[in-house]
Amino acid sequence: MHLIVGLMKQGHSVGCIDLDPRQATLTHYVQNRVRYAATLDHALELPRHWLVEVSDEADRSMARDEETRGLAAAIEGMQDRDYIVIDTPGSDTFLSRLGHVVADTLITPLNDSFLDLDVLVRLDADGRNILGPSAYSRTVLARAARRRALGGPAPDWIVMRTRLAHLDSHNRRDLERILTDLGHRIGFRLAPGLSERVVYRELFTRGLTVFDVADSLAPWRRLSRSSHAAARREVQALLDMVAAVHSD
Ligand SMILES: Nc1ncnc2c1ncn2[C@@H]1O[C@H](COP(=O)(O)OP(=O)(O)OP(=O)(O)O)[C@@H](O)[C@H]1O
Ligand SMILES: [Mg+2]
Repeated sequence: MHLIVGLMKQGHSVGCIDLDPRQATLTHYVQNRVRYAATLDHALELPRHWLVEVSDEADRSMARDEETRGLAAAIEGMQDRDYIVIDTPGSDTFLSRLGHVVADTLITPLNDSFLDLDVLVRLDADGRNILGPSAYSRTVLARAARRRALGGPAPDWIVMRTRLAHLDSHNRRDLERILTDLGHRIGFRLAPGLSERVVYRELFTRGLTVFDVADSLAPWRRLSRSSHAAARREVQALLDMVAAVHSD
């Protein structure tokens, strides 16, 4: 949602697609924003949003066809947008795979722990040496190969750590070293990441982001200025990384 609003604040038109209908967190976030916007006496940027349903067809190939048509229709409806932001589920569903195939830029958020690192890479017992990429990394690489085979460019893959602890711990430096190393090996860029902040959770019910709060939306004055500015800076760093590719 921060990515979506950040892009809109830069003057881009944005469409967003939710491929995780079970959780539908992005859809709810957008709905909360629409509802909150209606209570304001000034305009709030809104994205064009679309939730793709999971097919309830019993036949697997028919279900896949239906979901493929669902995503194609969503993208078709967003052709006039400068950016399309797609949220995929954490699990390996067919819609998630489709999302990975169509994406020009892939952003993989990763909680900042060795447990979550397992999503990307298998490590030895000490957690110091890389044994190889995990199933998810191999899936991403396979999708990238498929895109190239179809004549498209490889996606730009950005891995972003989130919920970073404020203390610069030993673990955190180890993770950073492993991720930088892995990024070189399998081809992703490591974004600076987002700290663990209450503000990222609190803004959800109003559908707001740290970019909106900066515009000092009337009733929202509870944030300290410095933590707010720091949050904006770290989200901005992610936006800059995404934009760097697209301006090439
Ligand atoms: N930087 C952060 N600071 C504080 N809380 C965070 C931060 N990032 C995520 N969270 C919290 O962690 C939880 C899960 O985060 P998130 O919504 O990003 O994952 P998810 O989309 O549920 O994962 P998945 O879709 O892969 O199952 C949420 O409660 C969210 O508020
Ligand atoms: Mg999610």
